[in-house]
Amino acid sequence: MERITGTYEESTVAGEVVRAFVPFPLPPEEPPLRLDGELGVLLASATERLRLLDLAGDLVPSVDWFVYAFVRKEAVLSSQIEGTQATLLDLLEVEASGEAPVDADVEEVCGYVDALNFAWASLHRDDGLPISVRLLSETHRRLLAGARGATKQPGEIRRSQNWIGGTRPGNAVFVPPPPHRLAELLGDFERAVHDGSDLPPLVRAGLLHVQFETLHPYLDGNGRLGRLLITLLLKHWGLLSRPLLYLSLFFKLHRQEYYRRLSAVRTDGDWEGWLAFFLEGVAVVADEAVATARRLHAIVADHRERLVLRDDATMISVRLYEHLPRHPVVTVNGAIDLLGCSRPAALKAIGVLEEAGIVRPLGERRKNRAVAFEAYLDLLRQGTELVR
Ligand SMILES: Nc1ncnc2c1ncn2[C@@H]1O[C@H](COP(=O)(O)OP(=O)(O)OP(=O)(O)O)[C@@H](O)[C@H]1O
Ligand SMILES: [Mg+2]
Repeated sequence: MERITGTYEESTVAGEVVRAFVPFPLPPEEPPLRLDGELGVLLASATERLRLLDLAGDLVPSVDWFVYAFVRKEAVLSSQIEGTQATLLDLLEVEASGEAPVDADVEEVCGYVDALNFAWASLHRDDGLPISVRLLSETHRRLLAGARGATKQPGEIRRSQNWIGGTRPGNAVFVPPPPHRLAELLGDFERAVHDGSDLPPLVRAGLLHVQFETLHPYLDGNGRLGRLLITLLLKHWGLLSRPLLYLSLFFKLHRQEYYRRLSAVRTDGDWEGWLAFFLEGVAVVADEAVATARRLHAIVADHRERLVLRDDATMISVRLYEHLPRHPVVTVNGAIDLLGCSRPAALKAIGVLEEAGIVRPLGERRKNRAVAFEAYLDLLRQGTELVR
């Protein structure tokens, strides 16, 4: 289906004249979206499976560790899409050490976690910012808080022309709107979040993600912020009461198609094709998240049983074990803090868990030894490994 989704405007970058794209405000018109047929089926399925994921969150006894784990999984995946080389284990190790990250890639993922936590909390609080350009900019400031982001104007809407793909604007895959149009376009964007649209919220979230990427309002971090936006919109419209959907897994697995579909909205007006891809992703990842949550839960229960049946199990080792789902990587100092015990007692507890084959030592940190909850991490890690 052919549909015109915006206009082109001439913009000058470094003496070169380029055609910058200025999208029409949402929702798509001429023709309006058709949500019947195959798209209707995908929408119903994605909505139902997302509901089941949200319900799964209600059913598990201690949901906070799922949230902890899945937020980190999403942070790693979303950052990997654009080539960040940090793994889930890298992130958890740094968090467990209590030290500031030295590696720029890990720092970037830490920024994502911080940004998501900030924005999510803001939507929760009565006096927090609603979804708005201000909230996005404050979130962006945190996302790009690390050394690498410092030169990219964290928290500020860009004042220069940018481009995607290619070595210079003249051979770019896509040139987003000129900076002087952004104030007006972001105003339209905010209105599209808060107007009384009768489109289904899941569809609106999909449309808004593309619109955000098309505006590319920041110098960097637009991909990550735009994916984070999806989570915020699902919360805003009551589809997700906890950030348990790690949609970036799907975007990472189908990265070429993800980029192609984003482009096709601009070049062919193919909103329907994008929505089919997006809704499929929501359904697949929601299913996988439910299955992962179940399996993680089973691992925690099995290992607990294995531990308490052992002759060498002590009260303190069982107490340490109960912290593992929320601290799947733990250092000796971390264990001392968690248990409020002496160093020898913490070492003893870790030793018992090691003997039982529940945790394994990580690397050679002499001063502050770290161990990992292996079976748990192996499962959580799926999809976040790097293909080196
Ligand atoms: N052809 C396209 N049209 C519109 N948006 C696109 C296109 N190709 C990629 N994108 C979006 O642009 C994002 C990359 O933009 P940007 O570099 O600002 O994000 P980022 O999160 O900083 O990524 P990086 O880790 O590379 O710095 C992609 O993740 C994708 O969402
Ligand atoms: Mg970038």
